[in-house]
Amino acid sequence: MATSNEHQLGVKRVGSSRTIATRMLRHEDMNGSDRLFGGRLMEWIDDAAGIAARRHAGCAITTVAVDKLEFEYPAFLNDIVTIEAWVTHVERTSMEVRADTYVEDTKTGERRMINHAYLTEVCIDENGRPIPVPWGLVAHTPEEHAECEAARKRNEIRKMRRAEGI
Ligand SMILES: CC(C)(COP(=O)(O)OP(=O)(O)OC[C@H]1O[C@@H](n2cnc3c(N)ncnc32)[C@H](O)[C@@H]1OP(=O)(O)O)[C@@H](O)C(=O)NCCC(=O)NCCS
Repeated sequence: MATSNEHQLGVKRVGSSRTIATRMLRHEDMNGSDRLFGGRLMEWIDDAAGIAARRHAGCAITTVAVDKLEFEYPAFLNDIVTIEAWVTHVERTSMEVRADTYVEDTKTGERRMINHAYLTEVCIDENGRPIPVPWGLVAHTPEEHAECEAARKRNEIRKMRRAEGI
């Protein structure tokens, strides 16, 4: 949600896109080793990031890239998985969304981070072509400013990688 002043300036605050998705792991989410199937988690991450991007942009979006999928900790049946996603940076037609995934042991209440991923979401028109992101992004807290700054660097690195085909 933008305040009326932010609305006039055409910006939304970082918190406007914050999206929290919570699930309890079921049998159908497990892989052959009785752990959370990574592909299932990737779907949930894409879903949460897509919702965050749409909350910020207010238009149709599509995922063009996913960075940093490293599963640092396993999750098991009946664990609770939470994904927190929010827009960290806005470029011309694209946005970077950070998606943090945590697993909570329901017996002990202990919460650990499984993954933090960065997704690039692009605003598209009815023909699927990129269009400018309608809203700018304004950071308020020192953490949000630091994340925006880091996001700019990540964006430069992505561009370099694409230009060099790596
Ligand atoms: C997203 C899509 C519309 C972009 O089209 P395009 O012809 O590459 O358009 P552009 O080159 O103008 O790129 C648009 C934006 O995406 C960014 N982008 C394109 N490819 C990217 C990549 N591999 N990684 C990160 N960003 C990328 C560009 O930097 C640009 O951002 P900016 O305008 O903010 O600077 C097109 O690639 C597409 O339809 N991809 C499939 C998306 C999809 O179907 N996803 C669902 C899962 S399959």
